[in-house]
Amino acid sequence: MQTRKLQPHESPPYKLLLLADPSRQLVDTYLADGECYIIEEKSGIIGVFVLVELHKETIEIKNIAVREDLQCQGIGKKLVIAAIRIAKKNGYVTAEIGTGNSSIGQLALYQKCGFRITGVIQDFFVDQYDEIIMENGIQCMDMIRLELNI
Ligand code: ACO
Ligand code: ACO
Repeated sequence: MQTRKLQPHESPPYKLLLLADPSRQLVDTYLADGECYIIEEKSGIIGVFVLVELHKETIEIKNIAVREDLQCQGIGKKLVIAAIRIAKKNGYVTAEIGTGNSSIGQLALYQKCGFRITGVIQDFFVDQYDEIIMENGIQCMDMIRLELNI
């Protein structure tokens, strides 16, 4: 399974992108500001992430998602590793990623890939989203920021 850039004539895989972020408006902002990468098999696109430049040397991994029936099989880890490889190849020296306080599995994945927690944006998900987001029985309120030197 190879990761490749979504081509301009291809439609973004919104169903997947919205798994990682319920706001279509924010997803569209990330797609406009960044580059969308996909991983696919015969049945179609099964994974996605978006790379958005924050500064000249820093990229952020956004909207990482794996098709629901294929989660917990190592594809998410492959996507994070691919994102880091692409960022490094493109000359970035730092990768950032942000996720919710309630995203226990995601926090495990990013730290297993070497990311370190650098900060918390309190109430990010309360301020940015109209609906209450619940995950693992926890309200998603704060954004945990993580960083990796690549
Ligand atoms: N405790 C400890 N480790 C855990 C836990 C947990 N609760 N949950 C997952 N992990 C570990 C796994 O064991 C695995 O580590 P290992 O390889 O050492 O065993 C690792 O995390 C990742 O597992 P994968 O199978 O590669 O993950 P998956 O293919 O399910 O992809 C993803 C992860 C992308 C988060 C997927 O679950 C998904 O699409 N979720 C919905 C969308 C989403 O929440 N996206 C992230 C939003 S934040 C953002 O986009 C920046
Ligand atoms: N994902 C989601 N929810 C989880 C997870 C997980 N990976 N792990 C635990 N939980 C939830 C449980 O589902 C439960 O929530 P629920 O009641 O809504 O179902 C809740 O956390 C707590 O479960 P308990 O069964 O009450 O916890 P337990 O009796 O195991 O006690 C403790 C927790 C004290 C941490 C125990 O596991 C322990 O002694 N661990 C070793 C010592 C330790 O690490 N102590 C804490 C150090 S930090 C400090 O002391 C401040």
